[in-house]
Amino acid sequence: MNPKLKLTLTHYLNSTNSTSITFNVPTPHSNSVPFLKTKHFLRFLIRSFFSDFNETVSTRFLHVRHLGLFCLAQNGRARANGLLSYITAYKQQVCAPAVGQFTSKRALCTDKEDKMASMDERFAFIAEWYDANAALIRRYQFLFYTKDNTIEMFDIKNRRVFLKRSKCEGIELRDVFIGASVSIHSRQLKFVDYADDFTRKRLSTRKERTLAMVKPCSTDKVGHIIDMIFSDGLHITKAIMTKVSRAEAQEFYRMHEQKPFYDELVRYLTSGIVIPMELMGENAIQRWRQLAGPTDSAIARSEAPLSVRAKFGKDKQTNAVHGADSPENAERELNFFFAGAPKPNTATLVDCTCCVIKPHAVLAGHAGKIIVAIQEAGFTISALQMFNMDRANAEEFYEVYKGVVAEYTDMVTELISGPSIALEVTGKGGETPASFREFVGPADPEIARHLRPRTLRAIFGTDKIKNAVHCTDLPEDGVLETEYFFRILSQ
Ligand code: CMP
Repeated sequence: MNPKLKLTLTHYLNSTNSTSITFNVPTPHSNSVPFLKTKHFLRFLIRSFFSDFNETVSTRFLHVRHLGLFCLAQNGRARANGLLSYITAYKQQVCAPAVGQFTSKRALCTDKEDKMASMDERFAFIAEWYDANAALIRRYQFLFYTKDNTIEMFDIKNRRVFLKRSKCEGIELRDVFIGASVSIHSRQLKFVDYADDFTRKRLSTRKERTLAMVKPCSTDKVGHIIDMIFSDGLHITKAIMTKVSRAEAQEFYRMHEQKPFYDELVRYLTSGIVIPMELMGENAIQRWRQLAGPTDSAIARSEAPLSVRAKFGKDKQTNAVHGADSPENAERELNFFFAGAPKPNTATLVDCTCCVIKPHAVLAGHAGKIIVAIQEAGFTISALQMFNMDRANAEEFYEVYKGVVAEYTDMVTELISGPSIALEVTGKGGETPASFREFVGPADPEIARHLRPRTLRAIFGTDKIKNAVHCTDLPEDGVLETEYFFRILSQ
């Protein structure tokens, strides 16, 4: 039998008008269409379907879905990333050696290396890189040496050294944890596992995760709260602005079901938007509870005046933020928001512009201050989500700059170098895109510091690539760019 994949292509003309069509595409293991041909076949298919596509319009996204995976196209050219990831995952499953089978002398942790580790601590991870040209996920053993902040990489499949031990500017041990992405020589690596017990034992306790949630009464203070979290040394590894239904709120607070305030608590949680976040760091559960402060905001003000609840809470119930109280609850609550089907975001996709706080600014801890500045300037943040972009998506998003802006490649590399925070910015009607652009300032922070020293880029930018935030250039692209993050990537 010739198995088929069902592939649905959706062409978003604008937020309200979309067309879609479903094809049956041969799967990679179909004999009639070998793997590589499938890729070309798919491209051909997309091109023919969209042959009437208006190439003169500057930014148009096509959305290709397959089992929750997607690919995008701009200006009529499509990339079958979603399907290719599926094919890659399939090939990976079939071809990749189990890590335990890897027998390279250099890459294995030998006795000699164990002794070395005691002098020069060495942490080992499994990292993956999606090679778009070969449509393959490549796996590496990634070693980090703490003595001199050097790294070394081994190609697991080909069993050879990929990168000799060398310095890699800007990468520290705190940046290397399961789920994190870093950019090494323009490759975006994602850490997917520990590669030895030493690393697992040493780092898994340092990397405790917990749920922090900004409650409906204090979402306008989210910038201050993010800033406090970062100042405390905790990482934010996931975040989404969302709404919870009554049933979800009842489930979330089910341990309080017998308490007299349960119904009111459920009503409060569903009264507006919430911002759940995954925090990570040493002893994160305890530290976040301490930073949040006592449950009763009045007590917080007398006993822990610097806590979040002291500053932004009102009373016992309307107490600004929630924090998991045990490892079991942290896991349950993180799964509640971040496992399974993505929670719906709050994007309105009307009179909006797109702002992306770039990875360098997130890693430097500027995200909270940037959000505060945006809100204090009178804009509304109507959607917020943290993303770890991959190269294909970043190239797609920046495609309008390709061949136009000399920094295009570096811009892509920056966008994939770590977590970014996408915002839907609204609040000034049809003027929002132009007004926000003005507020953000000139693309080059050096120029911004001379001409517009109070703009975001002047304050938080470093150079033309690390210029703190991306914001939509053309007012007519505001909705499209916002859609890219909150309607396409968010799925
Ligand atoms: P949170 O950290 O989200 O955990 C449970 C919530 O119940 C708590 O914050 C408060 O919002 C609420 N809560 C706890 N005790 C009381 C109370 N005595 N009266 C009203 N609400 C309460």
